[in-house]
Amino acid sequence: MTVYGTRPEAIKVAPVIKALETSEEFKSVTVVTGQHREMLDQVNEIFGIVPDYDLDIMSHGQTLAQIFARVMEQLDPILADLKPDAVVVQGDTSTSTAAALAAFYRQIPVVHLEAGLRSGDIMSPFPEEANRKITSQIASLHLAPTLRSLANLVAGGVQLEDIAVTGNTVIDALYMAVERRTAFTDQAVERVAASGRRIVLVTTHRRENWGDAMEGVGRALARVARRFPDTEIVLPVHRNPVVREAVLPHLDGLANVTVTEPLAYGEFTHLLSLSTLVLTDSGGLQEEAPSLGKPVLVMRDNTERPEAVEAGTARLIGTDEDRIVAEVARLLTSEIAYAAMAQSVNPYGDGQSAARTIEATARMLTPVLPDLLPDFDLGGELTAASAKGGA
Ligand code: UD1
Ligand code: UDP
Repeated sequence: MTVYGTRPEAIKVAPVIKALETSEEFKSVTVVTGQHREMLDQVNEIFGIVPDYDLDIMSHGQTLAQIFARVMEQLDPILADLKPDAVVVQGDTSTSTAAALAAFYRQIPVVHLEAGLRSGDIMSPFPEEANRKITSQIASLHLAPTLRSLANLVAGGVQLEDIAVTGNTVIDALYMAVERRTAFTDQAVERVAASGRRIVLVTTHRRENWGDAMEGVGRALARVARRFPDTEIVLPVHRNPVVREAVLPHLDGLANVTVTEPLAYGEFTHLLSLSTLVLTDSGGLQEEAPSLGKPVLVMRDNTERPEAVEAGTARLIGTDEDRIVAEVARLLTSEIAYAAMAQSVNPYGDGQSAARTIEATARMLTPVLPDLLPDFDLGGELTAASAKGGA
């Protein structure tokens, strides 16, 4: 059973669900919590996934505690009824950790995708750093995207035999989507894409940036737009009203700023492939952009994804308004600075992460290699519990 609820989870579990659907070893059941609504449905639609269950929990102004409580309460009877052999969760959202805990309480093994990311600061990203650490305490199988995330897990006390390094399934999803070069449905975006001008692609939503920091992002974008009138800024704006209220008032009346609704994944990855640089506080974009050779300026003070920073394609710039303007200006004016960052690197995956996920999960659920099993009836079922406990 795969449980997910937000846009980034939907993107990252889609390749796994597709692989489970065609696998002979598994029957796949999908549960969406609906922590996000439109942004979640958009992704499911693109990947042709029709969830088996929809908890439909989203409400505007939802608190972290409300999300957590609703997911646990509504998922529990489904777990009790279906008794899945394993529950797959992704990343560090409230949906993810609540689902993991609900499964753990039912003694159902939890498979954690994108395990082992750590910023080292429990308050940033908030609440994600805490969420992923909690999930690491209760998961049975930890699927680390990189060797660094494996090392983080081991340092946190996870046994090596419970970890597999798979890469990040976001790269599988990116490869599936980007080559379709989906046409843009928003005419304003289509005009920008066809203009041949430089494009700065911007996304922002982080909870710890709400308020002053996000207002600063809005002001910084307006300053960049005025200073570089020949450059297009595109902001597919998150559905969260808190984000919209902070950023959008600063962008009124600027001809080279295009504010759009969240773009469907195919359109977004197409626009990413046409962009000059990316300015973001998103996690997933830090993974996708390097793979396409796009410099990423990360509007955060730290990151749980240091691999791209070390490879030189991502740069942590914080949320100070002046610094944002200066860093974007540097890339737009210095060919040398730009070339140094615009290198295609792939520290996060090779597009085969879903296949490795399936293999690792099958191994967890099969304590004895099938070809080593004796020919006679063993008189019982091999389950994850027997795998773990040796019953
Ligand atoms: C959530 C995750 C975050 C992830 C982000 C991806 C938590 C605590 N946060 O943050 O880790 O990086 O998703 O975007 O799990 N809304 C809509 N329609 C949508 C989606 C959101 O209207 O399709 C609005 C609703 O008013 C909702 C609000 O956005 O209440 C916030 O959504 P929520 O999931 O609580 O937080 P995010 O900031 O999106
Ligand atoms: N994305 C998208 N449409 C958009 C903006 C982003 O499909 O308009 C995708 C993006 O490619 C990435 C994911 O959404 O895979 C990132 O989601 P978000 O920034 O909401 O969450 P985070 O990655 O920070 O958890």
